[in-house]
Amino acid sequence: MIEMKKETLFVAFSTQKGGVGKTTFTVLAASYLHYLKGYNVAVLDCDYPQYSINAMRKRDTQQVETDDYYKLIAYNQFKQLNKKAYPIICSSPEDAIASANSFLASTEMEFDVVFFDLPGTVNSAGVLQSLANMDYIFTPIIADRLVLESCLSFALSINELLVSNASLRLKELHLFWNQVDGREKTDLYDIYEKSIHAFGIPLLRTFIPDTKRYNKELSGNRKPVFRSTLFPTDRKMIKGSNLEELLIEIAHIIKL
Ligand SMILES: Nc1ncnc2c1ncn2[C@@H]1O[C@H](COP(=O)(O)OP(=O)(O)OP(=O)(O)O)[C@@H](O)[C@H]1O
Ligand SMILES: [Mg+2]
Repeated sequence: MIEMKKETLFVAFSTQKGGVGKTTFTVLAASYLHYLKGYNVAVLDCDYPQYSINAMRKRDTQQVETDDYYKLIAYNQFKQLNKKAYPIICSSPEDAIASANSFLASTEMEFDVVFFDLPGTVNSAGVLQSLANMDYIFTPIIADRLVLESCLSFALSINELLVSNASLRLKELHLFWNQVDGREKTDLYDIYEKSIHAFGIPLLRTFIPDTKRYNKELSGNRKPVFRSTLFPTDRKMIKGSNLEELLIEIAHIIKL
């Protein structure tokens, strides 16, 4: 019997606003799905010219190679998984789709999902073309008036230009709250959510609290790691971060 090759999903955490968590969630989602949930993941790093995910992989690899403690954990993990770390492919944002497709065509391995770290410059035709070829876009938002205005205007443009165009690959854009101060959302969020709702942009149920954990990388002090391109988020640290809840909700939406 001929087995049908499952379509590889293209997903981006994207917005035009800088510093709201695009790269962080790209890495966290990729590592969670690739190392913990048995999916095959690839990452397209289109963050030209700093290539921040590729740089993170270099730091992670250096830590693992120079520290016997991490070396042993990595050895055991990869032996058990029987696969390598997910590939990180650097590309210009304009060539993102071509780069991803030529990578996928060059390997025997079947990939379930490719995450793209794209800039959100909707006024560049090349970047817009790349965004149009995602299956899903997830946009982190922060409860700050200026950030929110920028993120909502991005989401509205993408919805009008791309999502509503049935001939394009992009199916849905979803917003989610990031860096929520405190355990509970305040009344301010209700006000913002009313306008988000009025614009007809879907918003994820899960919100991500503002917590220093989101910055914790591998380091010489051998503390449990939250954000790494070689390991999934540590079990002890994931509790209360809402990260797992977010990724379960996303996996459900993209039908992974
Ligand atoms: N929920 C959170 N709590 C605390 N810090 C966070 C949270 N989410 C993201 N951060 C931090 O915010 C900073 C910016 O995040 P990140 O680099 O992922 O943003 P970005 O959108 O990719 O930015 P850029 O536009 O520069 O590429 C990082 O230092 C990250 O660790
Ligand atoms: Mg970034």
